[in-house]
Amino acid sequence: MKLSYPMNPNAILVTGGSGFIGSNFILHMLSKYPDYEIVNLDKLTYAASEDFNEQVEKFPHYTFLHGSIENQELVDFIFTAYNIRGVVHFAAESHVDNSISNPGVFVQTNIVGTFTLLNAAMRHWMEGPGAVKPGYEDCRFHHISTDEVYGALGETGKFSEESKYAPNSPYSASKASSDLLVRSFNRTYGLNAVITNCSNNYGPRQHDEKLIPTVIRSALQLRPIPIYGNGRNVRDWLHVQDHVEAIDLVYHNGINGETYNVGSDNERNNLSLALEICAILDELASERLREAGLSSYSELIQFVHDRPGHDWRYAIDCSKMYQELGWKASIPFGSGLRQTIEWYRELYQPKQTVGV
Ligand SMILES: NC(=O)c1ccc[n+]([C@@H]2O[C@H](COP(=O)([O-])OP(=O)(O)OC[C@H]3O[C@@H](n4cnc5c(N)ncnc54)[C@H](O)[C@@H]3O)[C@@H](O)[C@H]2O)c1
Repeated sequence: MKLSYPMNPNAILVTGGSGFIGSNFILHMLSKYPDYEIVNLDKLTYAASEDFNEQVEKFPHYTFLHGSIENQELVDFIFTAYNIRGVVHFAAESHVDNSISNPGVFVQTNIVGTFTLLNAAMRHWMEGPGAVKPGYEDCRFHHISTDEVYGALGETGKFSEESKYAPNSPYSASKASSDLLVRSFNRTYGLNAVITNCSNNYGPRQHDEKLIPTVIRSALQLRPIPIYGNGRNVRDWLHVQDHVEAIDLVYHNGINGETYNVGSDNERNNLSLALEICAILDELASERLREAGLSSYSELIQFVHDRPGHDWRYAIDCSKMYQELGWKASIPFGSGLRQTIEWYRELYQPKQTVGV
């Protein structure tokens, strides 16, 4: 196969880089490491950000490739053509509700896709079990995973890296399976790999279907704000910028074979989160509120039939990240949430004036 691309010792393959966290990660990396070559392989499913490529085209070291991580031939070609020296693997089906209605695609993307990437990394970086090709010693596979692999907590306690895996949804089961595949390639073949398991993210470019964009959009469109069950399910919310900085740190400084939990000690139940968003919108979009004859957007909150198997509570003990790598989340939830709401307000504003 004729190679038409320059060899760059810092080429990183980012999978799913047009999605929510991947797109924030790529912007962070391109700005912070102008010499790195970033290759984004994304299938552009419904979840991909529509305008992300336009924003990053200006960076000379960015390449977008449209394709699937399940395509072994394509992935092998990319490793060779771009001299891939690192993988940061975000690509996934990521919405729990969709995994309940259509679990098959989660198995394909999250498990088979991860296996395909691991195979390629093995072939290109290793001579065989325990034997790294000379010159490829620093190549690393960083797998992005979720705290949902640990299952659900009761009122107290936190997930640590030692917590047992107990996934409850097809989504979390597929992520747990992919984590175990990564672990097995590390333990069996000696592939340099790290895993980060992160709590719920919020911030710009998250897909409409997720909780925070749904609350903001529904409120601004004066539609019912749907909250599952009694709204008491608890999540630990981390700003996506904090997450990408944690990934950057683990990718560069994490210890081979280790897992790191990433969270922010910022627990909120879904109802109080929705109320917080409504209180900020009451202030930011007060005119629309008055026009609609409401005293608060929170009047639009409606409880809907609960998600089957809805995990009760997630919370992350991220002391390992702090003790070993000096990382802790730095964006206060109040300001991060306000900035996120302002971003979505811009996004939803034109639709709101046309459609309502
Ligand atoms: N969003 C969160 O709160 C959160 C929390 C913890 C962990 N994670 C994990 O982080 C990763 C990224 O999550 P996200 O919220 O950015 O997801 P997302 O759904 O916003 O984006 C996923 C991206 O992957 C792409 N993709 C899907 N199938 C693909 C395939 N076969 N080949 C190539 N690309 C494909 C999509 O087009 C999309 O751009 C996932 O692995 C997820 O499990 C997410």
